[in-house]
Amino acid sequence: MSRPIVIENASLYGDTTASILVEDGVITAVGEVAAPEGAVVVDATGLIALPGLVDLHTHLREPGREDAETIETGSRAASRGGWTAVFAMANTNPVADTAGVVEQVWSRGREIGLVDVFPVGAVTVGLKGEHLSEMGAMAHSKANVRLFSDDGVCVYDPVIMRRALEYVKTFDGAIVQHAQDLRLTEGSQMHEGEVSAELGLAGWPAVAEESIVARDALLAEHVGSRVHVQHLSTAGSVEIIRWAKARGISVTAEATPHHLLLTDESARTYDPLFKVNPPLRTQSDVDALRAAVADGTIDIIATDHAPHAAEDKDCEWAAASFGMLGLETALGVIQKALVDTGALTWRDVARLMSENPARIGKVDDQHGRPLAEGEPANITLVDPAAAWTVDGAQLASRASNTPYGGMELPGRAVATLLRGEPTYLSPRFEGAFA
Ligand code: DOR
Repeated sequence: MSRPIVIENASLYGDTTASILVEDGVITAVGEVAAPEGAVVVDATGLIALPGLVDLHTHLREPGREDAETIETGSRAASRGGWTAVFAMANTNPVADTAGVVEQVWSRGREIGLVDVFPVGAVTVGLKGEHLSEMGAMAHSKANVRLFSDDGVCVYDPVIMRRALEYVKTFDGAIVQHAQDLRLTEGSQMHEGEVSAELGLAGWPAVAEESIVARDALLAEHVGSRVHVQHLSTAGSVEIIRWAKARGISVTAEATPHHLLLTDESARTYDPLFKVNPPLRTQSDVDALRAAVADGTIDIIATDHAPHAAEDKDCEWAAASFGMLGLETALGVIQKALVDTGALTWRDVARLMSENPARIGKVDDQHGRPLAEGEPANITLVDPAAAWTVDGAQLASRASNTPYGGMELPGRAVATLLRGEPTYLSPRFEGAFA
């Protein structure tokens, strides 16, 4: 049994100041707390306490590309970023399209114990878009898979998509879609617009995303199933999601920190660190995404943490892989883009980065819970005044492909607790839990 912990004078959700007592992995009191004998007491004055963050969109690369990330290095990056749970995408090698692979990923996550790793199963065998995977077997495995995605590629065939949506209804799962019309984006390198024309890079039109978002919302309505749309990147996609929700369709959507901060102007550097799928769009798209995150049209913020080995990024733009790191920088980027600009409160951040993703991922019995008595002690302490300059080489990921290198972020997670166990402590707390 570990010692009780008292977190003194934290600002709960950025609102009221209170102390939190943690005993045996559970929050046992919130408010005025008398420290029990032998308790570890930490001073959280000036820190914001949030429920542990839940990332619905992480690439851990294991099995298959352990040179880019492992479940261990990715878990460490997650805990440092304030996350207590991550959903691991299926585009590994082998692909997570069987009960065997998802159980392996789930067990390895448990063994490491820094963060709860929930595997996402592939929708189609080998992500090839041709035959449905063993979704039922994955759902009934010990990994208890509820979300299925071919992320990295779109489930393009409407008949396969329809069948997948029908199938997951039997175990209350959801299809998580990477919305990208494959024909409209053949060879595409960046957002199709003025900048792509000037740079001479093949364009990726907004309609390639929007047409699939619209199709899938209609398919979800037709079969009465649940679809979650990943990394929304265009103002048009926001409009479609808004329309679908108003119509009562069971659709949810996410935005990434990078699509909420960066634009296609970054491509002028020709630096592949800014190459991502879907591509960075224009300022008016960023503005529409920010408004949608604030008004609830977009349900969650998820990282799409996509580690890549140096040889896949240190090359010319056209040859480079799509993707960027996100786990350790997400909170700071969201603070910079949305909290410090007044668009979101910290309570909104808790909703977007913990409560809603836990609900969509069906893990809301353990994660995204209120900071209240009787709840699991999954807690993130954020220091909104701990400005830091991002350095890819200093991040815990095995890869270092961050687009934020050299950028100052205003704050960061300084302590993360998973079921009462500290999984990350910044230097501020060194020795405090000894
Ligand atoms: O940029 C991306 N990288 N987008 C995706 O959808 C997949 C990801 C990856 O696996 O690298």
